[in-house]
Amino acid sequence: MSTEGPLIGCAEAHPNIALVKYWGKRDEKLNLPAVGSISVTLDALTTRTRVTFDPALRRDELRLGDGEAGAARVSVCLDLLREKAGVGWYARVESENDFPTGAGLASSASGFAALVRAADAALGLGLDERELSGIARRGSGSAARSIFGGYVEWPRGERPDGSDSVAHQLLPPGGWPLAVLVAITTRRSKPKGSSEGMKHTARTSPYWEAWVEGQEEDLAAARGAILRRDFQALAEVSERSCLKMHALMMASSPGLLYWNGATVEAIHAIRGLRHEGIPVFFTVDAGPQVKAICLPSFADEVERALRGVGGVLEVIRSGIGDGARVTHAMPVVGD
Ligand code: DP6
Repeated sequence: MSTEGPLIGCAEAHPNIALVKYWGKRDEKLNLPAVGSISVTLDALTTRTRVTFDPALRRDELRLGDGEAGAARVSVCLDLLREKAGVGWYARVESENDFPTGAGLASSASGFAALVRAADAALGLGLDERELSGIARRGSGSAARSIFGGYVEWPRGERPDGSDSVAHQLLPPGGWPLAVLVAITTRRSKPKGSSEGMKHTARTSPYWEAWVEGQEEDLAAARGAILRRDFQALAEVSERSCLKMHALMMASSPGLLYWNGATVEAIHAIRGLRHEGIPVFFTVDAGPQVKAICLPSFADEVERALRGVGGVLEVIRSGIGDGARVTHAMPVVGD
């Protein structure tokens, strides 16, 4: 590419929450999952990112909020895009979340999805979403899903090169407008990151094989429930997948426990609501926050109940969001 000045691209993306969980890798270098997963993208939480490829830079730089951060995983994604574009310049990446980072709200998912979208725009590559999903996956597995909006499946794939392990949309956001209430039970970062936790679990949990073997059945159940808009069926499979993943982690050695007391209380509150006839279910990722998913007409009631749980600091209300998209010039911290 022949150009003189810096190349700039901006994008935003939302986190997603898994209904059928990704936990474990079949290839660490290519970041290929041991199991497929299904998620929904959230509209209420957003990461905004600006990428500037600049001939004056001597390395890739990452600013997260107002602090500098390590750029190793960012460089993995940028290298793939630089190679496709035939551009050798390093980049400055400036990214902001409007929600707590590293506390189980999937900031890496929205972060890498926004990064890849913004860098693609800066380089003028115009890659399609499947290609972007495969590159975002290299930064963080769940980011492969945040490239898309709505209900998204990321298959495990079989090929050693990972070309069949990219996400696709099952339903657009408007296809089934459910509400998601995120109960924040701590603002501290999690003790063990997902990549490390996955490795530990695969190595030491006695339930590892059963986890992998049961996944295709859960994926089929969740996919069918989403396509039929069958709330009860989606509730059953989602809670099962969540509890299986956490049981798998807890049984590893030493056991991995992401929950706190409020996490458990919130789960009981949600199940209590369901027993009273309110269509709601829970899911919890690798952190202590609890997400309640319900039909929008019950969102007020679910929100009230979660706010009443001791230890719940805040409840964020969300709908189903769009995929990662290019934005116009973005003001970032320090501008
Ligand atoms: C529990 O995508 O953060 O949220 O690929 O190692 O970056 P890496 O892991 P990451 O793991 C997410 C795990 C999860 C479940 C899920 O989102 O499916």
